[in-house]
Amino acid sequence: MPYTINTTAEYHRGKLETLGWELTVSNALHPENSPCRTILKAPSSYGRHLYTYLQSVLPNPDFVSVLEIGGGYGYLMRDFLDCKPDLKPLMLDISPVLLQKQRDTLKDFDVIYRLGDFLETDDALLKGVELVLMNEILGDFPTAVDVPRDILQHDLSPQALDNALKRIRRLFDSYSLGTPQTVTFHFNLGAIEAVEKLCRAGVPAIFLGEHSCEASIPEHFARFIRVEASDSPQRIALKGHDEYTIKMSHLQKVAESYHYRILRGPFADFLDVSYSDSLLALLTNQEEADDRDEILIHFLGDLFQYEYLILLR
Ligand SMILES: C[S@@+](CC[C@H](N)C(=O)[O-])C[C@H]1O[C@@H](n2cnc3c(N)ncnc32)[C@H](O)[C@@H]1O
Repeated sequence: MPYTINTTAEYHRGKLETLGWELTVSNALHPENSPCRTILKAPSSYGRHLYTYLQSVLPNPDFVSVLEIGGGYGYLMRDFLDCKPDLKPLMLDISPVLLQKQRDTLKDFDVIYRLGDFLETDDALLKGVELVLMNEILGDFPTAVDVPRDILQHDLSPQALDNALKRIRRLFDSYSLGTPQTVTFHFNLGAIEAVEKLCRAGVPAIFLGEHSCEASIPEHFARFIRVEASDSPQRIALKGHDEYTIKMSHLQKVAESYHYRILRGPFADFLDVSYSDSLLALLTNQEEADDRDEILIHFLGDLFQYEYLILLR
C-alpha cells in the first residue's frame, strides 16, 4: 500500500466547531466539580498543576513572554495568568473557532492572538519567547502513514524520493532516529519538524505534552489499568479527523542534538495521584463500575498514557 500523509489542518481551519467530544486532560480537569480532580492529591486544575511543576524545574521560573500553540479553549493559559498576572502571552492557533474561544476565556487579560499553522509561521514569531507550551497538539500535525522502511536504506539515493519522503529521510539521517522494527511504519513528520523549528530558534524552555506510543505504567497500577505501547505512532480515530500518537523518543533525539537538557515522564509526575483506599476499592471492583467510576479509571490511564517533555537550554 502506498504511504499517505494524514493531516488535520483543513478540519481545524474549517469544520471544527467544538472540542467537546475530544476530551483533553486539561479540559477533563477544568470544571471545579470535575470527578477527575478527586483522584489527585491536590484537587486543582491542569494549568495550576503544570504551572507549579514548571516553577520547580525551570532555570528561569520568572518567565514573562510565553507562546502557547494550539491553546484550545484557553483554560491552560487562564490558569497561568491567574498564577502570574504579569505574563505576556501570545496565542497561536490554526482554528478561527478556537482562537475566538481563547479570546472569550482570556478577555480580562492583555493577550496577543495569531491565526495560523505553526508549521508555516515565520521563525521571527519565536524571537524573545521564553517559554513555549504545546499541550495535546503534536498529534494533530501531519503524520506519514505506512512509510516503507526501504526508503532509509543507505544505498538508496534521497534524490529518488518524493518531497515528503526526502524530508523523512533527512530527519532519520540528521538525528539518528534508528531503524523501525516493521517493514512499513508511521512517522510523526509534522511534530518532529515543529520541535526542530523550536530548537533551531533556541527557545529557552519548551513544554510538550501528548498521547505517547511509548508509555509505561508503574507496577502498583499495572495490575488494574493498561496503557498501549508500540514502536510506531498509532492512529486515533476522532470525529471528522484522525490523529496519531507520538513517539517521544524521536522528539527527544532532535532536542538532544540541539544540546537541550530534557525532562520526560508521564503526566502523573505533575498530576500526582492520591492512591487512596477508595481508589484502590474502585480499581479492584471494576466489574461493578458505574459511569463516574469508568471516567475515573479512564482518566487514571490517561495520566500514564500521556507523556511530557520539558526541553531546557
Ligand atoms: C486537541 S486540541 C488541544 C487544546 C488544548 N491545548 C488542550 O490541551 O485542551 C489541539 C489544538 O491545536 C490546534 N492546532 C492544530 N493544528 C495546529 C497547527 N498546525 N497550528 C496551530 N494550531 C494547531 C487546534 O486548533 C487546537 O486548538
